[in-house]
Amino acid sequence: MSQRAFGAATLLDTKDPMGLRTSAPLLDAWIRDMETDRSPFQIPGHKGRNDLTGSVVDGDIPVLPGNHPHRISPSLILEAEALAAKLWGADLCRFGVNGSSGSNHAAVMAVAGPGDKVIVSRTLHKSVLVGLVYAGVTPIWIRPEINPATGLPEYLPSTRLAETLKAHPDAKAVLIGEPSYVGTMSNIPRLAKVTHEYGIPLVVDAAWAAHFGFHPELPNHPLAEGADIVVTSAHKTLPSYSQASFVLVRGEYVDLPRFNKMFDSTQTTSMSGRILASIDAARALLERHGEELIGPVIDATEKGRATLRAAGIDVIDGEYIDPLKMVILFGSIGSDGNRVEADLLAANIDVEMANRDMIIPMITFADTPDRIEDLIGRIIESANRHRGEPRPVQTAASFSIEPEVVVTPREAFFSDYEVVDSAHSVGRVSAEMICPYPPGVPVLSPGERITQAALDALFQARDSGVRIAFVADPTLKTLKVLPN
Ligand SMILES: Cc1ncc(COP(=O)(O)O)c(C=O)c1O
Repeated sequence: MSQRAFGAATLLDTKDPMGLRTSAPLLDAWIRDMETDRSPFQIPGHKGRNDLTGSVVDGDIPVLPGNHPHRISPSLILEAEALAAKLWGADLCRFGVNGSSGSNHAAVMAVAGPGDKVIVSRTLHKSVLVGLVYAGVTPIWIRPEINPATGLPEYLPSTRLAETLKAHPDAKAVLIGEPSYVGTMSNIPRLAKVTHEYGIPLVVDAAWAAHFGFHPELPNHPLAEGADIVVTSAHKTLPSYSQASFVLVRGEYVDLPRFNKMFDSTQTTSMSGRILASIDAARALLERHGEELIGPVIDATEKGRATLRAAGIDVIDGEYIDPLKMVILFGSIGSDGNRVEADLLAANIDVEMANRDMIIPMITFADTPDRIEDLIGRIIESANRHRGEPRPVQTAASFSIEPEVVVTPREAFFSDYEVVDSAHSVGRVSAEMICPYPPGVPVLSPGERITQAALDALFQARDSGVRIAFVADPTLKTLKVLPN
């Protein structure tokens, strides 16, 4: 039985609609493998047959273990990564198949190790926190400003970072997330300048910003703004496969061989060639057609925001946001975002995030102006139907807690624990990470003191329908705490 005997025909119909393969070596190799009748005696075990488990395995080409020119192999991956590094002006680029999660783990371990301190934005994703556990570092938390009108994070003031660095001059790195989950941006050049005064790197989790810099109306890419390590999910804002991520690194403040070692330790040894080829394809697409593809979607998103505002519905807007981010707020009209989401789901429309107070339909340049207009119309119709009493602005739990670190995340993560009734947990030290998800920003992280404020915020999130993730008891009746 030869490989690619089944399924290949359908996939190959659309193999390269934009003519990218001539400048995308991994995409080219993937297509060539798909077109070739091979007899694989290697993993994956499906051997290219889809008469066993079905078309779920179509197009799943592995990475060959040795170096082979023109096949998906380590040498060709290096070639594709070098093209990406050149495009973004980096000294090093690495493609990953474990999302920005794996890339964040690598980034933390690349800049700090056991016993070190790092300054970390508390609005960062839980994968950074897991990176802190892996690296065994102590976080010095720093909070962005919260916009009082929305209760959402806005930007990290460089003066606050300067004060924190002054208080912790031995910190090994500064880790921030830009743009935030709601699309708001800090002034990265200022933060980079302050960070570099201490001779340490600025690491930016830019999971949502792979498209930045490819249209005049988009913010610059964080690397171009002075960041030293930029982690990105290609699968979020670019048309790449799920799990696709890449990291861009500049070597002035980062030890590149150490970065490579850490990155390799976070990736499977059986990478999916298809995921990697999809990163290469997205890079070539951005390079050749980014601006012309992004422009109409920015216009349609802007128009969508104006239509929502005209209907009396608040949206996040302004100069310092990602123009493709659509964050719709329901507090002032008293609608419930969960109900709006339910209406959309009933029409087979999925959104990135919804809770009582807001909804985020994720927009990328794979959307069309028509689809965006239709979506906005449906949201307005549904929100109007569910109108209620206006609610005061409330800052979400993830953005409001002032953590007290008692022991390092790693110590608490691997510690023995007790299970206690949450009503009796105040004052104890959390043994687990507790995140309303999305956005996946921890309210309590391992090693932090449990306060009444944290509990109240978590109960409020739970009661308003938010999933409480990564916790042993998602009802929050009990919590895992460190022994006294
Ligand atoms: C800010 C941020 N960083 C990292 C991640 C993890 O990304 P991935 O899902 O690609 O692992 C997410 C996921 O939503 C995120 O929002």
